[in-house]
Amino acid sequence: MAESTKSATLTFDGKSIDLPMMSPTAGPDVIDIRKLYAQGNVFTYDPGFTSTAATDSAITFIDGDKGELLYRGYPIEQLADKSHFLEVCYLLLYGELPTAVEMVDFEARVTKHTMVHEQMHYFFRGFRRDSHPMATLVGVVGAMSAFYHDSLDISDQWQREVAAIRMIAKLPTIAAMAYKYSVGQPFVYPRNGLDYASNFLHMCFAVPCEDYQVSPTLAKALDRIMMLHADHEQNASTSTVRLAGSSGANPFACIAAGIACLWGPAHGGANQACLEMLREIGSLDRIPEFIARAKDKNDPFRLMGFGHRVYRNFDPRAKVMKESADEVLDLMGIHNNPLLQIAKELEKIALEDPYFIEKKLYPNVDFYSGIILEAMGFPTSMFTPIFALSRTVGWISQWKEMITDPNQKIGRPRQLYIGKTTRNYVDVADRVK
Ligand code: CMC
Repeated sequence: MAESTKSATLTFDGKSIDLPMMSPTAGPDVIDIRKLYAQGNVFTYDPGFTSTAATDSAITFIDGDKGELLYRGYPIEQLADKSHFLEVCYLLLYGELPTAVEMVDFEARVTKHTMVHEQMHYFFRGFRRDSHPMATLVGVVGAMSAFYHDSLDISDQWQREVAAIRMIAKLPTIAAMAYKYSVGQPFVYPRNGLDYASNFLHMCFAVPCEDYQVSPTLAKALDRIMMLHADHEQNASTSTVRLAGSSGANPFACIAAGIACLWGPAHGGANQACLEMLREIGSLDRIPEFIARAKDKNDPFRLMGFGHRVYRNFDPRAKVMKESADEVLDLMGIHNNPLLQIAKELEKIALEDPYFIEKKLYPNVDFYSGIILEAMGFPTSMFTPIFALSRTVGWISQWKEMITDPNQKIGRPRQLYIGKTTRNYVDVADRVK
């Protein structure tokens, strides 16, 4: 970020305030309003932060009009094609692609931490046996703070690093345990000889009474899904992690807060909601009915997996995901999958409809991911946990960046108060309604 020679002038109530501007390396310029309240006694009003940059960041860049997504400058399409999830983790965490030696070292560090403390198994028993795995994930990740006391001191760089590696390593284990618990099967310990995605598939689908061979095709497809979800700049859950972290909360508590935020259907919960919607549509002839509902202002229904706050063009992740859906289903011998057919037709009809064209609503990452995950054998309840374990590295990278940012302050938005002004307490006997 560079101070810009440009400045903006705000004029109101006969006053004029000059506001400095800053220029990013990419994206629109920013008006710096930090001194606005002190100088002008006014706040800005921006519910949903549609025009507000809450931080500077060097991790991920999105050009919503172009439909471009870069991790540390590298286009997501190139990474999805050539890289793998742990390499992307390294890139997001440390800013550069690793050398071969650095990669081996990083993999070894992550692998060493894949098991969770044995006592943590008892936590799971406290959840109802049919708990949603996201409910379990929020609780157990938050509870990591109770187990890993040697990585709670956020002022210690080494402890921050250990916490980061622990979470990247353990989230798949905890998510798989949450799944196993929800279906009443025994927990499966990690296999450190397997790569990251294969290990997760193994922990989810192996059972003690049978051999389980991980399909390299499925592992590759899952690894790609993880890369596509690894970071997405200042989205709701990432901003939640930063806000929680801004008070000095420990990293496990912050990531648990991010997981809680991700669960909502407008965010990471959309992949589950999208597949459920495709099932509800059920057949091609019912698509117009659902398109009409999505356009009806009096109907709260929205096309799940459509629209995005930042993308006003194709979500580049959705393009990769669509190709993957075709590949995975073909390789698994699933031809003419009815849900994929409905999804493709729905996309086609929506993209030709003036309502979606005018509002620039395109398929997002969640539109096709559920179809792939279902084909792999995951129930819908596991879609958002898989998003969460993939996004963990993004949350941690952003959290680490925030902790070392000299401009970092506790997050504390202001408000436009519209309640009662000062009034006197009335004794209960005198209250008239
Ligand atoms: N179906 C129908 N209409 C929509 C949709 C949709 N999916 N999304 C937005 N609109 C309409 C909305 O009704 C509004 O219309 P109007 O201007 O007439 O009031 C207009 O488009 C702008 O919508 P908005 O809600 O103001 O936009 P936003 O930037 O606040 O919301 C969003 C973005 C992703 C929450 C929203 O598009 C949505 O709810 N999509 C469905 C849920 C979804 O797929 N979420 C996953 C997002 S990508 C992955 C992730 O971040 O987790």
